[in-house]
Order: sequence, then C-alpha cells, then structure tokens
Amino acid sequence: MLEKIKEINSEIERFTIETKEQLEAFRLAFMSKKGKVSTLFDDFKNVAAEEKKLVGQELNKLKNIAQERFDSLAEVLQNGSSSIGADASLDLSLPAIPNELGTRHPITLVKERIIQIFERMGFNVSDGPEIEDDWHNFSALNFPENHPAREMQDTFFIEKNPDMILRTHTSNVQVRIMEQGKLPIRSIMPGRVYRNEAISARAHCMFHQVEGLYIDENVSFADLKNTIYHFVKEMFSKDITVRFRPSFFPFTEPSAEIDISCLICKGKGCTICKQSGWVEIGGCGMVDTNVLDNCKIDSKKYSGFAFGMGVERITNLKYQIKDLRLFTENDIRFLRQFTAAE
Ligand code: DAH
Repeated sequence: MLEKIKEINSEIERFTIETKEQLEAFRLAFMSKKGKVSTLFDDFKNVAAEEKKLVGQELNKLKNIAQERFDSLAEVLQNGSSSIGADASLDLSLPAIPNELGTRHPITLVKERIIQIFERMGFNVSDGPEIEDDWHNFSALNFPENHPAREMQDTFFIEKNPDMILRTHTSNVQVRIMEQGKLPIRSIMPGRVYRNEAISARAHCMFHQVEGLYIDENVSFADLKNTIYHFVKEMFSKDITVRFRPSFFPFTEPSAEIDISCLICKGKGCTICKQSGWVEIGGCGMVDTNVLDNCKIDSKKYSGFAFGMGVERITNLKYQIKDLRLFTENDIRFLRQFTAAE
C-alpha cells in the first residue's frame, strides 16, 4: 500500500496542468469518487491493523497534496486565464488598477493654507498639549481665580484632577513658548480645542483654532493690524475689508475682535452676517504685561501682539458651509468636494 501511495504521489507531481481541460482531467484521475486517491481510501480497510496508523497518515498527506495542487491551479485558471504559461490574456504593459486615494479634510486644507500665509511672513509653527493644567490655560494668561472671565469658556475638567483640563483655546501654547524664554518670538500655533457645548449646526465641543504670537522690542498695534490685513487678503480676497472692534480678553490689553466684510453679500447685509455686513473671525490684542511678567519676559523691554482665530469659522466662510457637524460626520460625499484651498 505504501508503495502504491508513492507511485500515485509522483504521478500527481508529473501530471501537466496548463488548461482548464487538463485541470478537469486531473480531478477525474485522482480526486473524483472513482479517482486513484479515492480508490486507495477504499482499499484502506484491507490494511493490516498494525500498519493502519502509518498508512492512514500517508494517505491523508496524499489527499492533501492532490487537493492543494488542484485548488491553487483552479484559482489561477478561474481568474480569467484559460491556460497557464504562454498566457495571452496577461498583458504586463496595461496600467495598474489605481489605488483609490482619499482627499484632505477641509479643516486640514484651510489649516495648511493659514500656516503657509504666516510662514511667508516669518512665523514658525509651534505645538502644545491638548490636556493642559490650569496655569497654562488660565492663570498665566491673567484669568484671576474665581473670576467670571473663566466662564467665558465652558471647560471640560479631568474628574480625578480638576487642575487638569482639556484646553479651551490654543492660547496655552503662547504661555509655553514664552516660558522657554527664547526671544524674539514669531510663531503660530494651530490645534484642537474643547468646550463643554451641546453639538449643533453652530456649536461643537471640539473645534480648531490658530493662535499667533509676536514678541520683540517695539512691537505695536500697527504691526498687529498689518499682519491681520495681509492674512485676510491672502486667505479670502483682496477686496475684503477688515475691522477691529474693541473687546476684552484677560490676556491682551487693548483687545479687539477681528471682523471681515461678509463674503456672501459683500457687506450689504444677508442672513450669514445677520444683516450687519460683517462676520467675526477671531480675537486679538497687545499681550498684557501681566502675562509677560508671568512668563518671565521683561515687559519694559519687550512688547507683543497675539491673536486667535477659529479654523472652522474661516472654513465655513471660505466654502460657505452652514453646519459644523459636517466636519466630523465623515460623509465622503461631503469630504470628496475639497481638493485644495487656492
Ligand atoms: N483665546 C481666545 C478665545 O479662545 C482667542 C484669542 C483672543 C486669542 C485674543 C488671542 C488673543 O491670542 O490675543 O476666544
């Protein structure tokens, strides 16, 4: 019996299979009910009891070899080729099937464009933690403890350690780079921020800001205004006008809100700008001397400006998107519409 198994094994190996017909002939010869392998299984009952174990193992091996040879060649022949070897349907000069590439998220596109505009003005890019302590998010930025200004931003606290929070703005990175003490500073800081807000078309608990900070000797409000003017014209268009509206932030003095003329109605008044002709894109101001002191920067020698802008807000205005939830729903019909921010 073992001799027979060996013989059939070499027959299997020698059998030429290059066409579907030969594959079928192979199946009939070895694997069908009356095939050679099945016949051996029928003969198995005649094998002496003490040899059954060894012969059984060899027989199973043989069956697997036949099956594997059949399966692998069946796959190749099934995939369109009518024969193996000189295969006329295999054209290696055909272009490969392209991988489907994703597109970049609109927030990423706008963030990259913002970075590009500021880099050309000599700003570098800095990064900081999203899980932050009270000092860097609030206290160093001149938010006194228990002061109502802290409530301007609905904070997520870390339950086990209320001194740790999810940063409510990117201004924490200002503090971190000022503390490093390498002056002058000219940096922008893009990143995610978190606020305890119910999710709706107009609000989200997670969004993006870009912070800017410029500290050197003799930096003035005029420098701030020119920087913002240039940014807005590059980001949107040359005919957009900017207005600075007096405001309050604990970390800047004086402070202003940055408004731009409405892109939709060109300042005439529409529903997007609530008939005012203006839309807000962020806040700014001259860095408060208390903040410089907190970060151990000599406020007699140095001055600086800072600004913070909402990336979603800018994206909404640029692409006229009316619902913030679209940014996080991952609907590819929405995402596929964005290729590059000019
Ligand atoms: N941190 C402010 C906010 O989240 C935005 C802001 C305003 C940032 C004025 C600044 C600034 O750096 O100078 O609402």
